[in-house]
Amino acid sequence: MPTTRTQVGIVGAGPAGLMLGQLLHLADIDSVIVEDRSEEYVIERVRAGVLEQGTVDLMRSTGVGDRLEREGMRHDGIYLRFNDDRHRINMAALTGGRAITIYGQNEVVKDLIGARQASGRPLYFEVSDVSVLDLETEAPRVRFVQGEERHELVCDFIAGCDGSHGVCRPSIPASRVRMYERGYPFAWLGILADAPPASDEIVYSLSERGFALFSMRSTTITRLYLQCAPDENLDAWSDDRIWAELMARLRTTDGWAPNVGPILQKAVAPMRSFVVEPMRYGRLFLAGDAAHIVPPTGAKGLNLAMADVRRLADALQDFFKRGTQHKLDDYSDRGLKRTWRAQRFSWWMTSMLHKQEGDNPFDYRRQLAELDYLVSSQAAMTSLAENYTGTPFD
Ligand code: FAD
Ligand code: PHB
Repeated sequence: MPTTRTQVGIVGAGPAGLMLGQLLHLADIDSVIVEDRSEEYVIERVRAGVLEQGTVDLMRSTGVGDRLEREGMRHDGIYLRFNDDRHRINMAALTGGRAITIYGQNEVVKDLIGARQASGRPLYFEVSDVSVLDLETEAPRVRFVQGEERHELVCDFIAGCDGSHGVCRPSIPASRVRMYERGYPFAWLGILADAPPASDEIVYSLSERGFALFSMRSTTITRLYLQCAPDENLDAWSDDRIWAELMARLRTTDGWAPNVGPILQKAVAPMRSFVVEPMRYGRLFLAGDAAHIVPPTGAKGLNLAMADVRRLADALQDFFKRGTQHKLDDYSDRGLKRTWRAQRFSWWMTSMLHKQEGDNPFDYRRQLAELDYLVSSQAAMTSLAENYTGTPFD
């Protein structure tokens, strides 16, 4: 079996794996990235859209921020819609100027793949049978098959950036980790529509019919979500039904409503909260969705992944350049602090804005009271704004 030696073997070419590869490249540390999907699939996968300031700064400082600079849409505020009215929260004013930027995750991935290819460092798509071995030794290995051929990477470290269904986390003996998990009895039906966004900023809505979210990808593309059942059958959702439901949940008394246009893509996204502790086993370090999953209501998943790899790259650089281990030893504890803060926030946003099965009119009134308090209290709005725009990466 052909064997390659590398400093860091990276499993997964999502935002976490690709950004880690870029950070290591800039620090002159070599890595090999293996990804089981095709390049087209990875680039076209429609997912997150909200970048915290820390993610934007990281993209810029690593030389992959040019298109983001030109095409990203900076938003100083968000709207909360309830009782048929929209209420704006001016996040920048409440946080000393912090904002979010709308830029599709697939665009982030496209920019990072471009940078990886320009670096000339290896990135293999469409590999299969990926496994990680000898994780508690100083020479952990990644095995995979490419085409018909088996390969082995002998590494100093392995970064498990292979998302929620990857192989890295399940390779850790169950006795060495603890998992914390919470399911939700609903999901999101998300669409991309060829329609100019009708609002300059995102709108989160609670209605008696359930949650809805208005977002965007560009000046011509609107992104919308509807709360639905986890096992929702997409065939039951004609375009007309989707628009009727979105209108019912988003329209406001002042006449605001999303613009309608051809639906370009639709999919159901499940919701889950999940944390694994610690984020490390021997020389395997987990980053991004491989280590934690948040429900998308707080828009935190991609940003947590970026914060993880920023910390991991810094720790690896200390190890390789200065021979010190303490940042590697701190990697998990520091990451878990950020993760639990994001878990708390994402859970709170989710429960405030969704209808739960078994809820009665009392619960809906309670949710309305919470939203009403939120938009009328400077302290409450500041708390939301601080969490939504995100704390600086450490
Ligand atoms: P992934 O993007 O899942 O990447 C993991 C990669 O590993 C994938 O390319 C996968 O193909 C690959 N892989 C898996 N198994 C293997 C294997 N065995 N071998 C090799 N490769 C493998 N987050 C936000 O911050 N803001 C948002 O607005 C937001 N909105 C969202 C909306 C939706 C509908 C969804 C579903 C998610 C949203 N998220 C959001 C979450 C965000 O998309 C994820 O947190 C993010 O993709 C995590 O990046 P990652 O690199 O850790 O994992
Ligand atoms: C998105 O634009 O896709 C988006 C925005 C806000 C969220 C989740 C997703 O909370």
